[in-house]
Amino acid sequence: MANAVGRRSWAALRLCAAVILLDLAVCKGFVEDLNESFKDNRKDDIWLVDFYAPWCGHCKKLEPIWNEVGLEMKSIGSPVKVGKMDATSYSSIASEFGVRGYPTIKLLKGDLAYNYRGPRTKDDIIEFAHRVSGALIRPLPSQQMFDHVRKRHRVFFVYIGGESPLKEKYIDAASELIVYTYFFSASEDVVPEYVTLKEMPAVLVFKDDTYFVYDEYEDGDLSSWISRERFQNYLTMDGFLLYELGDTGKLVAIAVIDEKNTSLEHTRLKSIIQEVARDFRDHFHRDFQFGHMDGNDYINTLLMDELTVPTIVVLNTSNQQYFLLDRHIKDASDMVQFINSILDGTVPVSNSGPFQRDKWEKAEEKLAVLYL
Ligand SMILES: *[C@@H]1O[C@H](CO)[C@@H](O)[C@H](O)[C@H]1NC(C)=O
Ligand SMILES: *[C@@H]1O[C@H](CO)[C@@H](O)[C@H](O)[C@H]1NC(C)=O
Ligand SMILES: *[C@@H]1O[C@H](CO)[C@@H](O)[C@H](O)[C@H]1NC(C)=O
Repeated sequence: MANAVGRRSWAALRLCAAVILLDLAVCKGFVEDLNESFKDNRKDDIWLVDFYAPWCGHCKKLEPIWNEVGLEMKSIGSPVKVGKMDATSYSSIASEFGVRGYPTIKLLKGDLAYNYRGPRTKDDIIEFAHRVSGALIRPLPSQQMFDHVRKRHRVFFVYIGGESPLKEKYIDAASELIVYTYFFSASEDVVPEYVTLKEMPAVLVFKDDTYFVYDEYEDGDLSSWISRERFQNYLTMDGFLLYELGDTGKLVAIAVIDEKNTSLEHTRLKSIIQEVARDFRDHFHRDFQFGHMDGNDYINTLLMDELTVPTIVVLNTSNQQYFLLDRHIKDASDMVQFINSILDGTVPVSNSGPFQRDKWEKAEEKLAVLYL
């Protein structure tokens, strides 16, 4: 009997895999429709839940993707169960889980509810589910494992050393920030030889072909250092990322270009920013993020300005001010000069009022983690 059921769902799985885009009714079988009994029954399992409203357009767009998520989690044998709940029918349960807008994707694990805030694609959602449902701190027992992780993740954090108050803080930080990034622990002999540590224990971030060591005196609180360091130095910016960068308090230098335009001016500005990000990494990484953005639609709404494309803009996410250059930028050293004059206060601020980052904060939950 169990075998027959197993065979049948396996066959359904293969069928879905073959015709996934058709969104057949049979594929929906891998997403559980949740009701009020969920509140009492969920605790033994880890759940990935889409809280939706029947009328919401973004929810409808998510539905076929969600079915694929359910299917794939099942087919890879993930312990995470995938469900969906009509948050308008079960509004009191939804609000207990901190649902404020639709759709809201959460991973529920014991007493914690983790919000998913990334792009709503199958791969991103599944990656999130793996990361958050797994061990908070993953041990790296060998150099081979370290190399493997290094290849797989663009940014990750490593604690090196034995038990210590710093480790306690690292675990606390990880329980909150696992929604964004990966946390590992290792002994000193596992990290590559080019890593030099002045003292142990230590927390390191590996990214951008290099690493940085957390310094309690210079960097302040460990959680906020991790929040600031969780981004690669150079990023392809979009509204979502820019919103997230707002929490870092850093200055963000962006080449606003038209990616389809192959004329020199567009590619040149992008290369200049890339060059500065790379060559002045040690100098600027603490205070700056770099990147480019395709098109000026988003940035114009954010700044309530009309930027001409291509251009370079520097945003101060601490005080919502921005800086524009009133001339053509020549090369990387010209850009560095521009940055330095922003830092020494000789470039006038381009906006009269603050840019309105909060306007883009949707009804979504602001906190990444909710303690239920
Ligand atoms: C609620 O969900 C449970 C588990 O899926 C199911 O057994 C039960 O029949 C459902 N109750 C209602 C009223 O739909
Ligand atoms: C590409 O950019 C250049 C310089 O900004 C501009 O003059 C030109 O019209 C653009 N071409 C297209 C096809 O948009
Ligand atoms: C960015 O804003 C912060 C907070 O107001 C301020 O202290 C800092 O000087 C600003 N940086 C620049 C370069 O204007």
